[in-house]
Amino acid sequence: MLKLKLSQLKPGMRLAKDVILPDGRLLLLAGFVVKPMYLRKLEAFKVEYVYVEEGYFEPIDELEEERLYSHAAATIKSIFAMTSRNRDTDIIPVKDTVNDILNKVMENETVMLQLTGIRDIDNYTFLHSVDVCIYSIIIGKKLGYGKDPLMTLGMGAILHDIGKCKVPIDILQKPDKLSDEEFHQMKLHTVYGCEIIKNSYQLGTKIANIAFQHHEKWDGSGYPMGISENGIDPLSRIVALADVYDALTSDRVYKKRELPHVAAEYIKNNSGTLFDPFIVDLFVESIAMYAEGTLVLLSTGEVGSVVSPGKIGESRQKICVFSNKAGPPVLQPYIVDLNKHSDVEIVEVFV
Ligand SMILES: [Fe+2]
Repeated sequence: MLKLKLSQLKPGMRLAKDVILPDGRLLLLAGFVVKPMYLRKLEAFKVEYVYVEEGYFEPIDELEEERLYSHAAATIKSIFAMTSRNRDTDIIPVKDTVNDILNKVMENETVMLQLTGIRDIDNYTFLHSVDVCIYSIIIGKKLGYGKDPLMTLGMGAILHDIGKCKVPIDILQKPDKLSDEEFHQMKLHTVYGCEIIKNSYQLGTKIANIAFQHHEKWDGSGYPMGISENGIDPLSRIVALADVYDALTSDRVYKKRELPHVAAEYIKNNSGTLFDPFIVDLFVESIAMYAEGTLVLLSTGEVGSVVSPGKIGESRQKICVFSNKAGPPVLQPYIVDLNKHSDVEIVEVFV
């Protein structure tokens, strides 16, 4: 067993010990072969050392989707930086990125979904923007939208929070509750975003409108206008839901993420109040589930991969268990059907 600094860790090495955060959260398990996606996760959580098996190496290529994801985050980061300095910004790279995400989602949305949900404090807004874009396009695809409306939706989704670059940083990063005046300033990111998209980027009203309306709620309790139901553009309703779901399910350094089924229950419970019920139903069918192959830890200590994703409110997952943290080693993988074990829960999702 070797102890390596994170900078020495390479994809293809196999972990010899579980990676556990100071608050007790299990990040990765012994036996996992390191993927580029795990490196991103370890960096986000500022893990300094890991243990790997000596002499083990399995060649692993970075997936094209992983490269696309990193490139998208870098593109949106530079747009935020340029816009906050009032520099002239070239919007073409953002269009190319959204176009690439759209094509990938059409081809294989599961792989794109597996890349979402990893956050660090420094890059929170940029990674969140990319994830909201991925979720929104998946919902739009489910609605049967063609290429042009999907591009408009994707552009609005990736730029929905661009107005935040005009909100003072101490308000954006304030850990405590905002005062009334600060909250007022924060809410203005919707108005700023709309202006930036129309005036600086010269993009159409439909895209600008998504930034303007993404905090409106179905029952009229949102901002900046307090409009409701069909008064809110359908594209904005999609981004509003994707925005909340992503915030709930993201791993944060200081906050444990909600598991997909818990976040989906929240969204479902607020169907018809905060969210458009029609979009909630579509969303639950298309996103809020455990994709096949997702690695999970059960409350029994068993570790396995999802073989049947289940459906929120209807059926639970089936898991193929290949290891057990609480009992004897598993020699022959076996299936646990959660429908037949109501007391067993998924307690952690790895990837
Ligand atoms: Fe926002």
